[in-house]
Amino acid sequence: MSRNDRIHLLLATALAVGAWTGARAESEAPEPARMPETQQTEMQPAGTPETQPAAVPSPPAPMPVGNVADGKVAYDVCAVCHLENGAGRPDGIFPQLAGQHASVTYRQIADTRDGRRTNPIMCPFAATLTDSQVLADLASYIESLPLPLDNGKGPGIDYAMGAELYARDCADCHGDRGQGNAERLMPMIASQHFAYVARQIDDISGRHRENADPRMVGVAWTYSQREREAVADFISRLEEAQQLVPNPEAVPE
Ligand code: HEC
Ligand code: HEC
Repeated sequence: MSRNDRIHLLLATALAVGAWTGARAESEAPEPARMPETQQTEMQPAGTPETQPAAVPSPPAPMPVGNVADGKVAYDVCAVCHLENGAGRPDGIFPQLAGQHASVTYRQIADTRDGRRTNPIMCPFAATLTDSQVLADLASYIESLPLPLDNGKGPGIDYAMGAELYARDCADCHGDRGQGNAERLMPMIASQHFAYVARQIDDISGRHRENADPRMVGVAWTYSQREREAVADFISRLEEAQQLVPNPEAVPE
């Protein structure tokens, strides 16, 4: 892409972001939870990982070994929205990417590029990443960025409820500290922005995130609005590098 093309793409996308976030805000009036149709037979009871080990999703193609220095150059265009340090925005419009497992980023972008995940804003950028080496370089550079801890936090009013739900329903896959698992392609979600996590839980339960793990969908759709926010708040306060018990300093007053 020439520099001019890139500038045009960014301008068009910036306009689209505005339109898209506005439209979503309107269309996101809370709906009563509905059981996703195809989910009804495969629904698993939450919190019984030993009876049903999580399926390992297969990546689109084996990931080549990434080159961090080349990834830094390719990341230039991403920094416009996700920022130089990969922190995204505390209001959650742009997710934090820093520190994410390369295997996870690689898969998410390939899924978006190949139409397995609808993500209108990211689509034009993902579409340019047809070279799996460039994609692996980018994903490796993103993984090398230190996790910023000044992310957008939730209101902190239901911390205990969030901790309990997280341990019961999420920790098996995302890890007890939200560290994820590179090999199983489980995203690190620790200290992700509250508003982004809350929106993803809505998308997951409403099946707008088409590549979502069915077991996670099965849990998320049962949550009330309050439970979604409680668990998103807890996740926003998890610090990957911390000890196994939630960081006491992260517990709101
Ligand atoms: C114009 C703004 C914009 C640009 C430029 C952009 N992104 Fe994004 N990106 C977004 C938005 C908005 C989302 C979240 C969409 C949603 O809420 O589902 C996102 C989501 C993502 C996600 C999904 C996070 C996850 O774990 O599922 C990844 C990965 C990502 N972007 C990587 C990149 C990379 C790499 C680049 C550069 C090639 C890039 N983005 C460029 C706006 C942008
Ligand atoms: C069976 C394993 C599993 C369980 C249980 C699970 N997840 Fe996930 N989760 C995944 C996988 C795999 C992905 C990445 C692909 C996708 O969207 O499914 C993901 C993605 C996510 C994302 C998006 C991350 C990003 O960067 O965009 C969020 C947020 C999330 N999960 C939250 C939760 C919460 C909250 C719970 C508990 C209520 C939960 N998950 C339970 C496997 C799981």
